Amino acid sequence: MAVLRLLASGLLAVLPLWACDTGDASEPGLEHLELLQQQLRLRSGTHPEVLPLTWVHFPKAGSGFLNVLVHTQGFCPGVPQDLSVETERFSCRVASNLFKACPQVCDPARVRCHASPYECVGSRYSELEGRMVGVFRQPEQRALAAYHDELRTWMAPQADCAHRNGTRPPAPVFARFFAGTVAYQLVGEGLLNYGGGHHWLPGLVDIPERTTEMAGEAVRRLQGFAFVGITEEWDLSICLFRKIFGGPCRALDFSKTQSSKNYDTAPLEGFQDEIDGIVYQEAMRIFRHSLLQHNVSVDSCRDCFAQAGRHGAPNE
Ligand SMILES: *[C@@H]1O[C@H](CO)[C@@H](O)[C@H](O)[C@H]1NC(C)=O
Ligand SMILES: *[C@@H]1O[C@H](CO)[C@@H](O)[C@H](O)[C@H]1NC(C)=O
Repeated sequence: MAVLRLLASGLLAVLPLWACDTGDASEPGLEHLELLQQQLRLRSGTHPEVLPLTWVHFPKAGSGFLNVLVHTQGFCPGVPQDLSVETERFSCRVASNLFKACPQVCDPARVRCHASPYECVGSRYSELEGRMVGVFRQPEQRALAAYHDELRTWMAPQADCAHRNGTRPPAPVFARFFAGTVAYQLVGEGLLNYGGGHHWLPGLVDIPERTTEMAGEAVRRLQGFAFVGITEEWDLSICLFRKIFGGPCRALDFSKTQSSKNYDTAPLEGFQDEIDGIVYQEAMRIFRHSLLQHNVSVDSCRDCFAQAGRHGAPNE
C-alpha cells in the first residue's frame, strides 16, 4: 500500500511527460509471447507485432484487469510483485496515476503507456490494431455499476477527490447519457476524461453523439483485439489471458469487485443500450471463439484456478 502511494504521488510529481519513450527491451523470458508474435507474423503480413499491448479500458467493466496486465512477466518490471490496485478501496486516482507512472515502471516494448486510462481509440486504430486488449461488460449492468459508483461517478472533479452532493438523475436518464460510450471509445476521438476527472455527471460533459453506424465500426474494430475478456466471465477471461500471454494465476486477479455484482435492471424501466448491446454481442462471440481456440474451459483452467487458490467452479 505504501509502495503504491509512493507510486501514486511522489514519483509522479517529477514526471515531465506522459509519453512513452522507446527504451531498450532486453528483459528475457517471454518465449510464449515471442512465439505468439511469430505466429501472428506468419498469419498476417500486415500486422506483424502484437506488442506493445494497449489496454482499452471501458470504465466499470473491470479496472482489476490492470493488475493482471502489470503482473504479466516482463510487462512492468518496476511494479512490485505484491502490488495490487484494489480499485474499490483505493483512492480515486490510483489507476490514473499508475498510467502516469507507466513509462517509469513498465517496459514500453510490451505495454503501451497512454496518457489516460480512458483514451479513445479513434484515429489511432491503425497503429493499435492487433495489439489491443480489453474487457467488455453487459451494457445495462455497466450503466448501473456506474450509476451506483458513488466515488467515481458522483464525485466532483476536484483534486482532493472530495464528494460532491450532486443531484442524481433517475437511473434511466443516466443510462441514456451513458449509452454507447463503449462504441464511442472505440471509434471516437479524444480522451474520455471521465476517470480521474470524474465527469460523468450529466450536464457537466457532453459526450458526442453515438450512433448505430458507430456500433458497426466498433464491431469491426473488435477484430483488432489480441484479447477480448468478458466481465461476466471474469475467471475464464483471466485464465484465457494467462493462456495467451503467460504469467501466474494470482488470487488477487480473481478477487471479485465490480465484476461480481449483478444489478436488477428494473430501475432502468426497460431502457436498453442498443449501440453498446451490438458491441457486447460481438465481444461475446469473439470471447467464445477464443475459448475454443485456446481450449479454455472450467476444466482446462483447473490448474490456473488452483494456483490462484480458487477451488470449485468459477464465478462463485
Ligand atoms: C445533500 O443534499 C440533500 C438534499 O438536498 C440534503 O438533504 C443533504 O443534507 C445534503 N448533504 C450534505 C452533506 O450536504
Ligand atoms: C483441452 O483441455 C482438456 C482439459 O480440460 C484436455 O483434456 C484436452 O486434451 C485439451 N485439448 C487440447 C487439444 O489440448
